[in-house]
Amino acid sequence: MHKEMNLKEVLIRFKPFYKRYWKQFFIVGIGILLASGGTSATAYMIKPILDQIFIEKKETMLYFVPFLFVLVYFLKNAGSYLQTYYISYIGTDMLRVLRSKVLKNILRLDMDFFKQHRSGELISRCTNDIGALQSIVSNIIPDFLTQLITAIGLLAVVVIQSPKLAFFALIVLPIAIIPLFYLVKKLKLYARNIQEKNSDLLSRLGEIFSNIELVKANNAQEKERQKFDQENESFCKVILKSTRINALTSPMMEIVGSIGVAVVIIVGGREVINGTMSVGSFFSFISALFWAYTPIKRLSALYGSIQGAVAASERTFYLLDLEPQIKGGKKELKNIENIKFEKVEFAYDNSFKNVLDGIDFDFKKGETLALVGASGGGKSSIINLLMYFYEKKQGKILLNGLDISDFNIESLRDRIGLVTQNIYLFNDSFAENVAYSEYLDEKRVVEALKLANAYEFVESMGGIYAEIKEHGKNLSGGQKQRIAIARALYKNPDLLIFDEATSALDNESEKAIMKTIENLKKERLILMIAHRLSTVENADKIVMIDQGKVLAIGKDEELLKTCELYCKFKNKEKEIKA
Ligand SMILES: Nc1ncnc2c1ncn2[C@@H]1O[C@H](COP(=O)(O)OP(=O)(O)O)[C@@H](O)[C@H]1O
Ligand SMILES: [Mg+2]
Repeated sequence: MHKEMNLKEVLIRFKPFYKRYWKQFFIVGIGILLASGGTSATAYMIKPILDQIFIEKKETMLYFVPFLFVLVYFLKNAGSYLQTYYISYIGTDMLRVLRSKVLKNILRLDMDFFKQHRSGELISRCTNDIGALQSIVSNIIPDFLTQLITAIGLLAVVVIQSPKLAFFALIVLPIAIIPLFYLVKKLKLYARNIQEKNSDLLSRLGEIFSNIELVKANNAQEKERQKFDQENESFCKVILKSTRINALTSPMMEIVGSIGVAVVIIVGGREVINGTMSVGSFFSFISALFWAYTPIKRLSALYGSIQGAVAASERTFYLLDLEPQIKGGKKELKNIENIKFEKVEFAYDNSFKNVLDGIDFDFKKGETLALVGASGGGKSSIINLLMYFYEKKQGKILLNGLDISDFNIESLRDRIGLVTQNIYLFNDSFAENVAYSEYLDEKRVVEALKLANAYEFVESMGGIYAEIKEHGKNLSGGQKQRIAIARALYKNPDLLIFDEATSALDNESEKAIMKTIENLKKERLILMIAHRLSTVENADKIVMIDQGKVLAIGKDEELLKTCELYCKFKNKEKEIKA
């Protein structure tokens, strides 16, 4: 799905961050130089300490060298402090910026995108993946540089103290490094796997918790637990596989390294015994060699983690680069006067089977249009097109005579109030939920609640600032619907769409709300999809939809004369009532 990237490409993509944090990076650079320079200097100082103080017994050096020693350590650790703090600063701030950028871009994307990705997967992308990505810049690269410079410094000491011994010690290095490349490839593969399994795990949890009622009502706890255990287990398996490889690298290097040290002791020991090398030189040499081992080992481990981070970056950059398919136009939609569908065809997922197959209808301000028909006929799909959640395949959707694609999407959605069967409520006050994206005006909130026949129960629950629980868990189905209706009314839109929005209401409430809508329709366009035909009897136009086609359009009494299917529906409803 996403494009594979290598480290270089990832680093190039970070350009804006290098600019943004150049001051901090500069300080980090100084810190790195001080810290790694200090380590090499310490190794080098072993020679004068041993040779001049302990062997030659020069007293002047006794007061000079220890002082220098403390100074070197002071600089080294000051460097280490600067480096640690500023790296962390860059990392933390970058994580914040990236998270917000990724979310911003995801929110721009089409409905289609959200249908294709589970929410747990998206959460994992916005948290884990970005964490892995920021670690490239804020941990891995600085650490890599520190270790590299330290290693180079120490190896320089090694070479200065004895080029001949250095040759014997370092000859084993390539033997240790070659197998690493193979292991690292595997690590990248596993890292990718780990992130994917992790998002599977989160998705599964999300599904369980949001469907908890269903799970309990069907005693499916055991089944859900088993399904979860499967994901859980396979997650662990990949982690362990990756850990095994990771754990192998450093012991392998250490074993090979010990061979190098053994050779050095034999060759160097002979030189000290023969008097061609001073004791101080030898210990400075061997200390530098031992100390160099740690950064070299770190370098190899870091190389492994870079692979994981690159895999995560691929996904994050993929999300940052995704463009919505539906872009809309430049025209601002100030108000909607009329709406017209002309031979509109539509299919989800670019499949060949049309869900809508030549839809024609029109209505204008002051009119109520009702869409009726069997479920699965395509009524909600018509709304999806009108909201511009999806792009039509063929035909025209005209608003005030202009195609929907000419308009700026935000301005379009600003003019529409949509209520569907799916009710969306946030864990916030009634007032915040009703005003939602608009400025909160108490008077208007109360008015909208009254119009939606909801004010009474809101009052009884503690007023408009009482809290709604997540997903409206403290409300009944009908109450939730009325809050959603109040939200649409608060927006004061030109076009009000009710997609089976009154299905959970009792007859009384439904009638009251229909009356409200009837009163609102003068300056508006109303589009109703109702599950009970009696609800829409009074509509100015009723459009009978069947399998993606318009069967008939007319008022109730007209359709009763001309449309067989409509009569059938109507009769069925009467039978149920009777
Ligand atoms: N998001 C979607 N992705 C793919 N197919 C869909 C989607 N939504 C609806 N459909 C399909 O489109 C058809 C029409 O659905 P819909 O417009 O929801 O019907 P209605 O609202 O009249 O009950 C159905 O066959 C349904 O399976
Ligand atoms: Mg529907």
